[in-house]
Amino acid sequence: MDEMTLPSFETLLALSAQSVEDLLRRLLDERVREGEILRPERLLAAMRHGVLNGGKRLRPFLVLESAALFDAQGMAAFRVAAALECVHCYSLIHDDLPAMDDDDLRRGQPTVHRAFDEATAILAGDSLLTYAFDIIADAETELAPATRAELVLKLARAAGPGGMAGGQALDLMAEKLPPDETGIVRLQAMKTGALIRFACEAGAVIGNAGPAERERLSSFGAAIGLAFQLADDLLDLTASAEDMGKATGKDAAAGKATLAAFHGEAWTRRQLAGLVDQAEELLEPFGEKATVLRLAARFVAERDR
Ligand code: IPE
Ligand code: IPE
Ligand code: MG
Ligand code: MG
Ligand code: MG
Repeated sequence: MDEMTLPSFETLLALSAQSVEDLLRRLLDERVREGEILRPERLLAAMRHGVLNGGKRLRPFLVLESAALFDAQGMAAFRVAAALECVHCYSLIHDDLPAMDDDDLRRGQPTVHRAFDEATAILAGDSLLTYAFDIIADAETELAPATRAELVLKLARAAGPGGMAGGQALDLMAEKLPPDETGIVRLQAMKTGALIRFACEAGAVIGNAGPAERERLSSFGAAIGLAFQLADDLLDLTASAEDMGKATGKDAAAGKATLAAFHGEAWTRRQLAGLVDQAEELLEPFGEKATVLRLAARFVAERDR
């Protein structure tokens, strides 16, 4: 479809978010799955609060659109997309805890530890992380067993010590000892970039793409992942808490070295434009099929929420 005949990107994202949320709601019901004993009501309620509270659902969108490049738009892609959103929501629940960013507001609502309590928020995060791997490994995700195993491994690497969690650890250290520019870029590639890169690469894995195409999607994900955190840091500097649904102005207050704070808004916007160009170039071989992913790259860089 060419860009002129498409609904707006915001509309496409909202439609996809609805389907992803329907699935997340079903996955987070109280029905006990094989091998489980009981899903405690309060824990489940906290998990739902942390998941079904209106995120943009950008990572699931990227999984679905990347998979669509390879004509893999089925339920399996939706389940992988939902699993990734569970990991993302867990990362937010823990990121907001008093021991980390100590935030009261997320997606315009009280954070999970505020709405429930700290211990429940920790356990809701733990449960969402674990559940993500359950969702992918489950035979209901109708992919070849080796493909499911590959996705589990890739998601573990993206979320774990050498990925998101590792990036969060570096982020904590950065408050005390600001790293150099290379250090900040690496930290961001880990804390935010890794899950976004997984989103894009997962589409290629689900669609059984060859190594060169996987690599291409992975590089695309890395470029927009970097752009995503740059934009987040810029919004932390410039946007209101009301528009963002979360506190802003926190990075500077915490003495956190971000590229946006260091180089200013004009420089950051130029960087963002460069990353979008890079991302679009990587999509060139896919032609019109990648129109929506091209829009996604632009959204990531130019978003205002
Ligand atoms: C926020 O991610 C956390 C970062 C990695 C910067 P999003 O901006 O995607 O948050 P939601 O999911 O839309 O709430
Ligand atoms: C955290 O980055 C990214 C995660 C891995 C959760 P931030 O701490 O900047 O995210 P926000 O601004 O609270 O969403
Ligand atoms: Mg943080
Ligand atoms: Mg935070
Ligand atoms: Mg932030």
